[in-house]
Formats: sequence, C-alpha cells, structure tokens
Amino acid sequence: MTIAIYPGSFDPLTNGHLDILERASKLFDRVIIAVLINSSKQPFLPIDDKIQLITLSVSRFKNVEVDSFTGLTVEYAKIKKASALIRGLRAISDFEYEMQMAQMNKSLYHELETIFLTPKPEFNFISSSLVKEIARLGADISEYVPEAVNDYLLKMVK
Ligand code: PNS
Repeated sequence: MTIAIYPGSFDPLTNGHLDILERASKLFDRVIIAVLINSSKQPFLPIDDKIQLITLSVSRFKNVEVDSFTGLTVEYAKIKKASALIRGLRAISDFEYEMQMAQMNKSLYHELETIFLTPKPEFNFISSSLVKEIARLGADISEYVPEAVNDYLLKMVK
C-alpha cells in the first residue's frame, strides 16, 4: 500500500490545498493530511477547529485521513510508514523554501520522497495568509476556501 503525508499549517485550509489533496488522493492508496501543531507559533485557528474544518472539507475523498503532529515531519512520516511527502508548488516564490525543505527532509530520511504538485491555475494565487487578511478586512472569501471554512471565518471576523 502506498502512503503519502501532506503536512502543513493549513491556517486555514484553502481550495488550493484541496486541489493538491485531490490530485494526491489519485496517486496514492492512502493520503494523510497532517496539521502541524507548532507550539512556538500562535495559529489563527485553534488546532481542534482546524481538524474539524478539514475533516468536513475532505469527507468526499475516501482514502484521505486527517491528523495532527508535533516535531519533525520526517519522524511523523516514519511512524505513518509514508513513502512520500506531498507539497503544493504555486509559483517561483515558493520554490526556494520548498527546495530547501525537500532536500533537508531527504537528508534526514532517505526513504521519503517529496512530491511537488501544482494546483489548477485558478488557485495559483490563493494563500492562507492572503485569505486571512482579506477575510479580516471584510472581503468575500467564498471563492477561495471550502464552505465550512468560509462559514467559520465569517463568524470569526464578525
Ligand atoms: O503550510 P506550511 O506552513 O508551509 O508547512 C510547513 C511545514 C509544516 C511542512 C514545515 O514547517 C514542517 O515540516 N514543520 C515540521 C518541523 C520540521 O520537520 N522542520 C524541518 C523541515 S525541513
């Protein structure tokens, strides 16, 4: 069985993330969307809410599971017996950071391959940070995030 992890902050999950997840779910038997619990950084969304929103948003993918983790991604990948780590690559601006992470992860754990997937062009400019910013400033974000996330953020910024 081929297992992939899709780690990230998902603060919040966007339609771009969902697009990457859908592609990954067609390539692997099992995909685990793994939300980082970062104790040194205060997230916008509490972890339990993030998990709940992601679970609601990915329910249509039968081979996708939602989980959270702390510590090194490669250690989490070993525990889950994952052979691949999925990352979305949008623009050249993502490239340097993503390349560095992929090479560090490879150096830490040779068995794990990072697979970069690109979203549909219409999702290329969407990022969690921009979505947060425009939601706070009162813009309609329904085009950029799953329905559950949109409803949640609307209540949050009211
Ligand atoms: O959605 P993000 O914030 O771009 O995801 C970054 C993430 C969570 C994949 C990265 O920060 C990570 O892997 N953190 C866990 C700690 C770790 O393994 N750091 C070394 C990475 S080379």
